[in-house]
Amino acid sequence: MHMRTKKWARPELAACPFYINHEGADESLRGTWKARFAHSERPLHMEMGCGKGVSTAKMVADHPEINYIVCDMSPDVLGTARRNIEETCGGAPDNVLILRADICFIHRIFGPEDAAERIYIHFCNPWTEHPKHAKRRLTHPRQLMQYREFLSDGGEIWFKTDDDTLFEESLVYFDLCGFETVWRTGDLHRDMTAVPGTGGRNYVSEHEQKFTELGIPIKAGIFRKAALAEGFDPTRYRLTPGVKRETLERLGWLET
Ligand SMILES: C[S@@+](CC[C@H](N)C(=O)[O-])C[C@H]1O[C@@H](n2cnc3c(N)ncnc32)[C@H](O)[C@@H]1O
Repeated sequence: MHMRTKKWARPELAACPFYINHEGADESLRGTWKARFAHSERPLHMEMGCGKGVSTAKMVADHPEINYIVCDMSPDVLGTARRNIEETCGGAPDNVLILRADICFIHRIFGPEDAAERIYIHFCNPWTEHPKHAKRRLTHPRQLMQYREFLSDGGEIWFKTDDDTLFEESLVYFDLCGFETVWRTGDLHRDMTAVPGTGGRNYVSEHEQKFTELGIPIKAGIFRKAALAEGFDPTRYRLTPGVKRETLERLGWLET
């Protein structure tokens, strides 16, 4: 979906004290992230592809005890995210940074010292039309292996999507990349009260709202960074239909 250019977005972002434009994606900001917050001791959570920040704004406002970095490549959607965050938080909060960057190069921007404890990926583009495009997914092993670098040990990825193929193939990606499943569901809105550590509170994003109105169940999971077999490079692994089926069977997904 093409987003119309918003003339006001860039000037508003440029004047925003909690916005960082790092399109260049060089390594100058690696290891600097915790110190950029008023309370550097707070845990760091990130959101990849936050879009207009509809759910992000509520989450940030509800959790002043967490530092958030929310990232997208599009200044047009980030302009709206900025407005949503300021409006919901009643001003500029001290616990969020909006980052403009291409997540494909996120390993250049974050390093192990940044130690994120959680990453949210909500409704990333499914890239299902052509198998060659799968590597553009924000859950592809190319991405998961980058996130591993700056996720703390035991850190988690929280993933939601409407798309069955993306969800199933992502289950395989998480498995290949040494993430264990903490929890998962094929229908989040049915199982909302069971999501660990949330007290049943689910922050509904723009796309989640849209797909829910269409009657599409939301697939969701929490995946924890665990050990990865040495010498194995998941980015070079070919996801054949046989491997997909075998993995989903082993993970017990096909019976659910
Ligand atoms: C389908 S939207 C989902 C937005 C929001 N998370 C939601 O649930 O409503 C996907 C978002 O990911 C962003 N995105 C996709 N690939 C990206 C990349 N490589 N780097 C940064 N942002 C990316 C897009 O700009 C878009 O805003």
